[in-house]
Amino acid sequence: MTCTDVPQLVDAIGRLVVRGAPLLGVAGAYGVALAAARGDDVRQAAALLEGARPTAVNLAFGVRRAVAAADQASASGDTAAAAKAALAEARAIAAEDRAASTAMAEHGLALVPPGARILTHCNTGSLVSAGHGTAFAVILAAHRAGRLARLWVDETRPLLQGARLTAYEAALAGIPHAVLADSAAGSLMAAGQVDLVVIGADRIAADGSVANKVGSYPLAVLARQHGVPFVVVAPLSTVDFDTPDGAAIPVEHRPADEVVSFAGQPVGPAGTPAYNPAFDVTPPALVTAIVTERGVVHPVNAGNLRVLGSGAGCTAQGERPPGTLPEIAETAQAASDVER
Ligand code: MRU
Repeated sequence: MTCTDVPQLVDAIGRLVVRGAPLLGVAGAYGVALAAARGDDVRQAAALLEGARPTAVNLAFGVRRAVAAADQASASGDTAAAAKAALAEARAIAAEDRAASTAMAEHGLALVPPGARILTHCNTGSLVSAGHGTAFAVILAAHRAGRLARLWVDETRPLLQGARLTAYEAALAGIPHAVLADSAAGSLMAAGQVDLVVIGADRIAADGSVANKVGSYPLAVLARQHGVPFVVVAPLSTVDFDTPDGAAIPVEHRPADEVVSFAGQPVGPAGTPAYNPAFDVTPPALVTAIVTERGVVHPVNAGNLRVLGSGAGCTAQGERPPGTLPEIAETAQAASDVER
């Protein structure tokens, strides 16, 4: 799909033609560059873009960075320079996302034991990123390292990002996988078939609360019940230190027809109301670790997140607090050993 102005892009974002936190950041920045190149009102375009989806903080992050670059370049009133600067910033954000994806894969791989059966939710691969994605980048790295026995793909009701997109990405990469109804995750874990849950995030609050596709929080509760590590993979652009806790994260609610119809066909009486939050929030106490491009936050709390965010934390695997990563991998390994 080609968008030639910002309203078209905003519409595409609203309809999830472009979606997933990191790619929304990239798309938002390109949207600002597009507005600047067209000679449109950049601030108005930025407000429209930022409002297109409220939960994924990467969108505002990308938009604001491109606006700041344009502002700086246009100080002398040179609008062509502003457009050029916004475009350069959008390209830089895409390149940073690609690099973050590679680094997260490397850090996350340390948490995956040999023979792992990983459960994931929603879609987090190259369809949401300029690189290999977030959670899926770790999964792909585990597959390439010969450590992945199976990928369990939640279908991800109601819009089926798992069944439609993650299954496609897994098949493309040759990953052994199977799709399950979200409601089957409990019995799958009870049967000892899951060693690790790995998901992405749309916004991580300063206290480590994680907003991600609706259905993530129930998975975290199940994982805790069954002693399975619950790992979140997200670039630092997804961490919002201005949002103090989970309760302060704005959760997007979407139209009822996404729930009460299927493939365009109504499945309930006409006009049936629905509860349709696009995301839910998992409290930090249920998150075993957060993998970022700068290292792994474990245990997840405001202090550890702040240290990593400030750049003073684990910048490489060798500098991580001793024992933390093996400990998680061992928990995952123990879960699989018990079953086998
Ligand atoms: O509504 P979506 O499809 O944009 O939701 C996407 C997710 O919830 C992803 O898990 C998230 O953005 C994290 S990684 C890309």
